[in-house]
Amino acid sequence: MRVLFIGDVYMEQGRNAFDKYFDIVKQEHKPQFIIVNGENIADGNGLSEQIYKDYLKRGVNVFTLGNHTFTRKDYPEVLSFPYVARPANYGPGTPGNEYVEYKFNDKTIVVINLLGRIFMRDPIDNPFIKADALLKDIKADYIIVDFHAEATSEKLALAHYLDGRVDAIIGTHTHVPTADEMVLPKGTLYITDVGMTGVKHSIIGGEITQGIRKFISGVPERVKPEKTGKLQFNAVMMNLDTKTIKRINIRED
Ligand SMILES: [Fe+2]
Ligand SMILES: [Fe+2]
Repeated sequence: MRVLFIGDVYMEQGRNAFDKYFDIVKQEHKPQFIIVNGENIADGNGLSEQIYKDYLKRGVNVFTLGNHTFTRKDYPEVLSFPYVARPANYGPGTPGNEYVEYKFNDKTIVVINLLGRIFMRDPIDNPFIKADALLKDIKADYIIVDFHAEATSEKLALAHYLDGRVDAIIGTHTHVPTADEMVLPKGTLYITDVGMTGVKHSIIGGEITQGIRKFISGVPERVKPEKTGKLQFNAVMMNLDTKTIKRINIRED
């Protein structure tokens, strides 16, 4: 099973980078299954109905989300779509799918999205305990986890905790790709962070001038996206059967 996982597509410029490189990457790597982290894909964060429908038509199979899941007003509707996995470790009563089960020919692929707790704001449930609970119920040929987290230690700890129990754990959220893609000792594919798809010269997608100003003054401001510049497209290509994971880091000069 050849799976392409594309890291956080960041608003308008992320969508532009996706438009520019998606077909090229697809042609070259011939994925059978495509996952996109869409927590920042719509303007103002979150995922929209229009983008969901458009990207599914273009070959994306499943969207995962993150800490910006609930930013847009229309989130209950967006979370009701069948191929959106919201972070599973929000509490009971949260709308949306705790995981997506996808039928692919005679195989079942499950995609789980979990949120980290270290340096993250929402008081969510423990992702380790939630993963145990989910994996007790899930029967699938392939299980892929998007672990949306800030701390590299938390990501590595969950990866080793789930090693051998899931096929891949892919880190998202920091928007900066790491170079540690590997096969864990019990066979799970792993990378700490895929990186983001959007403007190359930015503060993880946000405006550079604003980012610097905030760090100097300490005064909080809502992040404005960097509107122009060279693009980057970050993803990983995996083969879940032969157990390979390869980074795809396109950065325009
Ligand atoms: Fe993000
Ligand atoms: Fe995030």
